Amino acid sequence: KIPLLIDTDPGVDDALALLMAFNDARHDVVGLTIAAGNVGLEHTVRNALKLCEIANADVPVFAGTPVPLLHASPDAGYVHGLDGFGDIGYPPPARKAEAEHAALAILRLSHQYAGRLLLVALGPLTNIALALKLDPTLPQRVARFVVMGGAVTGHGNITPAAEFNIYFDPEAAHIVFEAFERFELADWEATIAHGLHHDKVVDWLKADSARARFYAGISEKTRLWSIDRRGDYWYAADALAMAFALEPQGALELLDRPLAVELQGSHARGATVVDWRREGGRPDKASLLMRYDQARFEALIQAALAAG
Ligand code: BDR
Ligand code: CA
Repeated sequence: KIPLLIDTDPGVDDALALLMAFNDARHDVVGLTIAAGNVGLEHTVRNALKLCEIANADVPVFAGTPVPLLHASPDAGYVHGLDGFGDIGYPPPARKAEAEHAALAILRLSHQYAGRLLLVALGPLTNIALALKLDPTLPQRVARFVVMGGAVTGHGNITPAAEFNIYFDPEAAHIVFEAFERFELADWEATIAHGLHHDKVVDWLKADSARARFYAGISEKTRLWSIDRRGDYWYAADALAMAFALEPQGALELLDRPLAVELQGSHARGATVVDWRREGGRPDKASLLMRYDQARFEALIQAALAAG
């Protein structure tokens, strides 16, 4: 099995991505390292533990860093619920997070699974940046690195230019994208191109499983917000990134390009700047997901909700 380490800030779409990972027989989820982002770290850790409990997933959870590297950033509680899981008031999880810090767990697991590790980042990149500062050789041990983040043609979701995960901690994203020689990116615009019709989602949530029941509850607020703000389709960014990570053969169009993160800028801080014309002389580090098999994406989600 492929060892899969997920850095995440659950988060409603993170939760769906995690259920997809738990349900995949070809991958073994070896840890969840938790970032702050969608909501504060105390909530994202608790949400991760609760989701593992609901899914009967015996996966260690490591708390990471509560703040971005340099500048404080507003969270996305208005999208995901103030607790990040739709404010349904679920009973506290029985298990606690491990004592080890997320950045150290990333490094330890990278040694344990050196050369085989699939690393997937579904939140701000603070923990991975810290791990890289502690040990810059990390990328040598990671077989594949898939990131949900960015807005490659400049249509952001948190500012006109920037996507949330990158905007929340641009310095971390800069450190990470500079350090890895190669990474795969499922950005916000790919998400928009792979919307999920709300009627289908509601159907999938009727599955007779503990996972579907829990997910129907925690996602309700954000789905209603989405219908109100964005119309017929729901955009589950982290789920698309996870589909791409689990079944890369579903990618129908990938483009390799140089990519940099804007750290200054009065309008574009946190923007992912892609050198589409490849004229800047920088390497084609980023493999950009432009199109993914929609039927395959939806089948992975449906199966993940129905399982267990
Ligand atoms: C990303 O930001 C978060 O709100 C989601 O969980 C996803 O990781 C989308 O921009
Ligand atoms: Ca996320």
